[in-house]
Amino acid sequence: MPLCLNASDPAAVEAAAQRLAAGSLVGMPTETVYGLAADAGNASAVQRIFEAKGRPSDHPLIVHIPPAEQGDWRAAAAPFAREVPVFAAALMQAFWPGPLTLILPRRPEVAAVAAGGQDSVGLRCPSHPVAQALLLAARAHGVHGVAAPSANRFGRVSPTTAAHVAEEFAELPDEALLILDGGACPVGIESTIVDCSRGAPVLLRPGVITPAQIEAVCGQPLRARDEAAPRASGTLESHYAPRAKVRLMAAAQLKAALDVLGPDAKHIAVYARSPLKTARGVALRRMPDDAAQAAQALFAVLRELDATGVNLIWVETPPEGADWDGVRDRLQRASA
Ligand code: TXA
Ligand code: MG
Repeated sequence: MPLCLNASDPAAVEAAAQRLAAGSLVGMPTETVYGLAADAGNASAVQRIFEAKGRPSDHPLIVHIPPAEQGDWRAAAAPFAREVPVFAAALMQAFWPGPLTLILPRRPEVAAVAAGGQDSVGLRCPSHPVAQALLLAARAHGVHGVAAPSANRFGRVSPTTAAHVAEEFAELPDEALLILDGGACPVGIESTIVDCSRGAPVLLRPGVITPAQIEAVCGQPLRARDEAAPRASGTLESHYAPRAKVRLMAAAQLKAALDVLGPDAKHIAVYARSPLKTARGVALRRMPDDAAQAAQALFAVLRELDATGVNLIWVETPPEGADWDGVRDRLQRASA
């Protein structure tokens, strides 16, 4: 079993920093989801992330950095990025620390294995106090960037609690993984990713920071994705998949389907915003009306419904509107 320590104990954060410095893995709470962290400058430590996740080695990881001194984000990014376009610096200023990842041209010094062989690097400064404390403590031990994908097995639902991480990597011994328990992640879905390496901003993954917010800060429109856009595992068609099959349905379709169910349909669970009556035995969870609250709860609910042993999870299609983009995107991928 992985070792799980309460992150409110400063000794736990220090122990985690020492593990990172020694090339070992740490489950790191962030405001978005928990990350599976390793020293980005240590190729064999980064290799351990890929092995533990079962992630293909050509899928790049995000490098996490502590907050900039005096708010100088350009200087903070300089050890990793060859250049920071003006619009990318504006995004850092506006949204860092926070749930935004920027793809920038990679310095050759950054371990290529962390970047999945791309000549770019994903950078993010998380706002979660435990993540920041860990990144700063790790720096004191000579760790200057922390590579961390979401702490789930490849293709599965991202973790938003320490217990989820422990569940994903249950067979790792305590010396191989220390999980810092920082409570439930407040944002709940992964960071918005903007590619800043190709002249104009390109949205690679929707999150709680919306396209309109990004365009306002950049002072230019987002450019559409093209074929040459770098690969992003969180953008694979099928991802975030629970064991049960997820099916997205409009409210009316969902209601009609429930109406014709037999009296006892224990193999189905429902996650819906609309008030619905379900047959006896059907687990029903209510999706919050607020997009931010829905994002916060999403992965935990999918895991919880999955754990009831159902074969099917019927989910009401989220509403239109940019504030639901992140939730809609994750649900579409979970159902693909
Ligand atoms: O909120 C988050 O971003 C969380 C927390 C832990 O920070 N991390 C996360 O990592 O979601 P991961 O590995 O599950 O998703 C990162 C995504 C992947 O889809 C990856 O392909 C993409 O970022 N990415 C990373 N570096 C990239 C690069 N150089 N070029 C293109 N995509 C990149
Ligand atoms: Mg992921």
